[in-house]
This record gives sequence, structure tokens and C-alpha cells, in this order.
Amino acid sequence: MLRRLAPHQPESFAFTPANKAWAEGQITKYPPGRQASAIIPLLWRAQEQEGWLSKPAIEYVADMLGMAYIRALEVATFYFMFQLEPVGQIAHIQICGTLSCMLCGSEDLIEVCKSKIAKTPHTLSADGKFTWEEVECLGACANAPMAQIGKDYYEDLTAEGFEKLLDEMAAGHVPVPGPQNGRYAAEPLSGLTSLKDHAAGRAQYNGSVQLAVDIGDTLKRIDGTEVPLSAPWQGKSAPAPKAAKPASKAEPVTAPSDAATGTRPQGLSAPREGKADDLKQIKGVGPKLEALIHSLGFYHFDQIANWSADEIAWVDANLEGFKGRVTRDDWVAQAKLLASGQETEFSARVKKGDVY
Ligand code: FES
Repeated sequence: MLRRLAPHQPESFAFTPANKAWAEGQITKYPPGRQASAIIPLLWRAQEQEGWLSKPAIEYVADMLGMAYIRALEVATFYFMFQLEPVGQIAHIQICGTLSCMLCGSEDLIEVCKSKIAKTPHTLSADGKFTWEEVECLGACANAPMAQIGKDYYEDLTAEGFEKLLDEMAAGHVPVPGPQNGRYAAEPLSGLTSLKDHAAGRAQYNGSVQLAVDIGDTLKRIDGTEVPLSAPWQGKSAPAPKAAKPASKAEPVTAPSDAATGTRPQGLSAPREGKADDLKQIKGVGPKLEALIHSLGFYHFDQIANWSADEIAWVDANLEGFKGRVTRDDWVAQAKLLASGQETEFSARVKKGDVY
């Protein structure tokens, strides 16, 4: 199959503020000069945000990583997981057509796609809600036939059941993923022959389905506010916030304190109202350090202005590669002035564009 950019492209692309902060955090995983290594996660996040990868999105990511556009295009056009054509507003349906699924009825599912969505793959349905394609084995062969829809798997499908799933989604619902024939997981279709006692006390859903239900992002476009931003590689002594329950908007992030390195200040999962202060107005904070500060949950001058001595000690100890900078450059005093609307000599220079 030819993988070419869509003939009709949007004018531009930009990450949401939270996705941008996340992307900047990803870049810090790699040593200087190796930022290009972050290309796949950044392209993937761009696709999660928009549903597909447009030319402006590919170029935006290339710019972030200091790469030639052709290099980013090579990656985007090579991997089939990247959608180069617009996808349905609600979902892009991926039907597994490999052996187990084919023997168990995937061709019937494809017929449903052809009649309910569009005759050909990668074509928007008349209402713009769905697109579909046939894909290779998705590793759920014991629950064939199956489809990946959004982030999750719908398994043990029949043509009739699959039609109903599409109708539910079109009506704005998100059906519970996993087996659709009453099976709990991948136990024998004829019923359990062992571990029957264990089955009696099991939870409502198997682990994968439970997680899908808990996170609830099966069909959601990802704007970056879903899970607390974290970059655990940047502060190994920093206990990472638990990500099991997504935050719907900027919510306080707390983590246990470490007596040896002070107390972790309360952070946020995303900037308030989606807009972070320009922390680079604090002398000593450049783009890399700003991304690191974001990854720890700090986006605003008033957050930094309120750090206690104990909290300063924690942040100083957890700025991997920049340890001690909070104290060295007295961020708290600078942040107090900036949070109150005043300027420092340095912030005035930043605003004038005299600092690069
Ligand atoms: S053959 Fe369909 S998931 Fe493996």
C-alpha cells in the first residue's frame, strides 16, 4: 500500500499546552544532540491529539526536534500505525484480518464496515464519524474476531454485535471494551474447567477491561490533561504520581515526601486554564529546565513563590542535571516579584527579546 500524505491538508498544527509540555519532557530523555530520538512518541502524541498526522503536524514535530522535514516524513510514512489521512471524528476502526480472525468471521466485520462506513478503507463515512481499515494480527487471536477501536480492543465480535457497537458509538456512547460474548477474558468458549473457585470471587471485568473503563479514553482525543505529567527519568528519587486515575483538568498532584531530600511541593497535572507562566523569565531557567520544572508539576510563578525551605531542598535535589539551581539563582525571590505582577531586571530583558 502506498503511504502518501493526504491531498487536502490543514493550514497548521500546534500541540495543546499540556501536550507541548509533555513533548518537551520527552525530549529531555535524550542527551544533547539526540533529540531526534523522540520522534516517534511526539508524532504519536500529535496523532492522539488530532486523530491523524497532517503535514503541518509532521513539520511541527520536526521543528521541535531540530530535524529536516524529510527525516520526519520518512518516519511518518514508514510506520503503518501513523494515519496519513483524516480519520472519523468518533473512531477509526481497525479490523484484524489475519488467520484466526479471518477463520472466525472478520470478513463479515469488514462487510459491516463497507456497508455502514465506506466501501473502501481510509475513507470517511458520509457523516464523517468513522473510518476503517484492515490490519494484521493484533495479538488477541484467542478472542477472534476482534477490532481495535480507538485505544482499546473489542473482541469475540459478531457482525450483528459489531453493527450495534458502531450505532452506540455514533450515538456518543463508549461501549465497554473486551469480549462481547460474555467471556471474561480468554477462557475456553465451552466454559472453565479449572480455577472455578477463583472465578467466583473475581472482579466485574478482567484487568485490561477494568483499566480501559477506569481510564475512559477509549475514543478520546488526547489533549495532555488526562494523566499527570511526569518524567520519572529526570528525578529518580522523586516518587512519581500514580497514573491509574486520570485527572480531567488541572488537579493537585501530591506524592510522598522524602525526608532525606526535603518535602515535595504540591504540583499540578497541567497548567491552570491550559496556560503556563513563562518560567524562562526567572533568571537561570532556560527551555530545558522549564520543561523539567513542568514535568514535576510546576507551571506558575505563584507555585514557586510559595515553596518553603524544605520544599526548595526537595526541588533542588530532584532537578536532574540542574541540581541546586533553585537556591543558586534564588528562584523563590524572583518568582515572588513576578507572581505579584512586578518585573525583575532579567524578566524585562526576556520580554524585550534581549535574552536568547
Ligand atoms: S489473528 Fe486476529 S488478533 Fe491475531
